[in-house]
Amino acid sequence: MRLMNDLDGLKRTCYCGEVREEHVGSRVTLMGWVNRRRDLGDLIFIDLRDRTGLVQIVCDPVRSPHSFDAAKCLRSEYVVCVIGRVVERKPGTENPNIPTGNVEVLADTIKIFNCAKTPPFVVRDEAEPDESIRMKYRYIDLRRLPMMNNLKLRHEIVLAARNYLSANGFWEIETPAMTRSTPEGARDYLVPSRQEPGRFYSLAQSPQLFKQLLMISGVDKYFQICRCFRDEDLRADRQPEFTQIDIELSFTDEEQVYDLVEGMMKHIWKEVLGSDLCVPFPRLTWDEAMERYGSDKPDTRFGMEISDITDVIRDTEFSVFKNAIGAGGTVRAICVPGCAELSRQTLDRLTDKAKEIGAKGLISISYLPDKEIKSPVKKHLTQEEIIGIKQITGAEEGDLVLIVADEFDTAVGVLGRMRKEIAQHLGLIPEEAFDFVWVTEFPLLERNKEEGVWQAAHHPFTSPSTRDLKLLDDLDEQLKGKLRARAYDLVLNGVELASGSIRIHRRDIQEKVFELLDLSLEEAQEKFGFLLDAFEYGAPPHGGIAFGLDRFVMVVAGANTIRDVMAFPKTTSGSCLLTGAPSEVSPDQLKELGLRLIEDNTDHARARINQGKTDSPPEV
Ligand code: AMO
Ligand code: AMP
Repeated sequence: MRLMNDLDGLKRTCYCGEVREEHVGSRVTLMGWVNRRRDLGDLIFIDLRDRTGLVQIVCDPVRSPHSFDAAKCLRSEYVVCVIGRVVERKPGTENPNIPTGNVEVLADTIKIFNCAKTPPFVVRDEAEPDESIRMKYRYIDLRRLPMMNNLKLRHEIVLAARNYLSANGFWEIETPAMTRSTPEGARDYLVPSRQEPGRFYSLAQSPQLFKQLLMISGVDKYFQICRCFRDEDLRADRQPEFTQIDIELSFTDEEQVYDLVEGMMKHIWKEVLGSDLCVPFPRLTWDEAMERYGSDKPDTRFGMEISDITDVIRDTEFSVFKNAIGAGGTVRAICVPGCAELSRQTLDRLTDKAKEIGAKGLISISYLPDKEIKSPVKKHLTQEEIIGIKQITGAEEGDLVLIVADEFDTAVGVLGRMRKEIAQHLGLIPEEAFDFVWVTEFPLLERNKEEGVWQAAHHPFTSPSTRDLKLLDDLDEQLKGKLRARAYDLVLNGVELASGSIRIHRRDIQEKVFELLDLSLEEAQEKFGFLLDAFEYGAPPHGGIAFGLDRFVMVVAGANTIRDVMAFPKTTSGSCLLTGAPSEVSPDQLKELGLRLIEDNTDHARARINQGKTDSPPEV
C-alpha cells in the first residue's frame, strides 16, 4: 500500500459533515478518518469522518477501479483523502440519522495518508467504553462526535464570553500561576524553587488577590479565562486543574454585578444556542434557599419545596416530633405528587436512604382518595395534625408527604437531597430547561465541622454585609454564625456555576475579618501583607465573580461530569492516564531542587518528600 508523505498539492474543499444537497453535481476533496467500511463485494461503502461528522463514500469498480482497489485495503481509522462527485442517494437509501444522509460521494480517487492499528474501542457516538480506556486513548475518544461537539461548545462559550466582556470595557489580563498560597481554602499544589532551595511557589487556586490588586492599580474592569489549581477531593464536578472565567470591576455594587452577568448569560445563550434567555434571574437569599430547598445550590426546575410543619404539630404527643422540637429542632416535610400508593418496600428504601444521609428516620403520610390516610404513625397523630400537615405542604389526594424531625441543618439537608433524588427518579425534572437563580447574602463565616474553627464561607476578602459591619467589634460565638456577607452565587439547574462577592477595600475592616478567623495580625501580615499594604495606597470599592467554565459547559452540554467537557482531564485520584502524570522524577532532578525521597518505616513504604537546604539534606 502506498502512503502519501505529504498533501501533494491536494486541498480540502469542505468538511465531511458539511456535504449537502447543494453540492450535488460538484466535485469535492475530503480528508478524514475511515469510520467504517462495508464491503458488499461489487461495491464498497466507506463512512468518512472528520470533526464535523460523517459522509458516505461509494467506491464502484466500474467507475473507478483504482479507488475500488484502494478502498479494499482501508480499515477503521485509516487517514485518507477522497476526491469524488456528490450525488443524491437513491430513494429509499437515505439515512435520516445524519445531516449528510441525503447525499453520497462517488469516489474517483482515494489517497491514503496513514494506516491505523485496530483501535481499543470503536469510534461511535453512543456505546461508551470504560472511562479509563477512554482517558488512556483520549485522542481516539475525542474523535467521537459528542466529545468533539463538547469541545466546540466550550470554544463557542469562551468566545462569546470574551466578546461580551471586551465589548463592555473589560480587559483580559494574565496573572501568575506560580505564586504564594492563595485564599480559596483548598490544599495547594507546590512547586519547589531551584534557585532558593527550601522555598516553594504555590499554583494559584484562583487569581483572587491579583485581580484585587489590579483594581487598586486602576484597571477598573478585568477578566481572564484562567486555569486554577486545587488539591482537593475530586468528584464529578471537580478537577485538580480547572478553568474560571474570572471577572473583577471597580466602583461596583451587587446590582451592577448581577446586571453584567445576566447580560453575559443572555449574550452567550443568543450567540451559542440561538435562544432568548429571560433576565433578570430570580433571587433567593441563602436563608430562603436553605429553608425551601435545603441547599445553597437549589435546583429550581421543579417544585416539591420543603415546608415547615413545626407549628401544626407543636403540641403533639408523638414522641419523635415532640423530642425533636423539645431539643430546639424543627419538623420539615416535602410533598411528593401522585405517590400516595408507593409500596411499603419503596418507602422502606426511602427511609434507609434518609438514614444513610443523616436523618434519624423518615415518616410518610399518604393522602389517599376519599380522605383515607395511610401512615405508619397514623395512630400517634390527631386528625387536626394530619389535616394541618396536608394544608401546609399543599398535598392533595393521591400525594405522599415525607417528614424529617431534627436540627434545622439535618432536616432541610436530608429533605433537600431526597427531593432531588425522588424528582430524578420520577422524571419530574424538565430536561431542556435552563433555570438560573442567584443565591445572595451568604453567611460570612462557617464552622469547620472537623476542626471546630470558624472559616470564611467564601474567602476572607469578602465584605461583611453593610448591616453587620458595626457588629464586628463585639461578637460572641452565636453571632458569628449569623453574620452575613456581600457574597452571591449563580446557580444553574442545581449546579453552582459562579461565585463572587463585593470585597473589603479597607485595611481596618480586613484586619477585623482576619481576627474573626483567628488569624493573628502577624500571620495576616506574613501571608497577605502585600494586599493589606496595597489597601493603604488608594483602594477603590470593588467586587467580582468567577465562573467555573467546566461546570458551565457541562450543564449546557447536558454532560454528567466535567471530564466530558475537558480535552485532557484527570481521574478522580488526580492522575492522567494518557501521559502517566504524576510520574517519578530522577534523583538528579530532586537533588537540583534540594529535595530527596525518604521511605516510611512501614510495610507499604510510601515515598515522602523531605525538604532540605543543603546538598545533602538531612534524613527525617
Ligand atoms: P470559588 O472558589 O467559589 O470562587 O470558585 C468559583 C467557581 O469555580 C468553580 N470551581 C471548580 N470547578 C471545577 N473543579 C474545581 N475543583 C472547582 N472549584 C471551583 C465553581 C465555582 O463556583 N476567587 C473566587 C471567585 C470570586 O470571589 O470572584 C473563587 O475562586 O463553579
Ligand atoms: P422509632 O420511634 O425510632 O421506632 O420511629 C418511629 C418512626 O418514626 C419510624 O418510621 C422512623 O423512621 C421515624 N423516625 C424516627 N425518628 C425520626 C425523625 N427524627 N424524623 C423523622 N422520622 C423519624
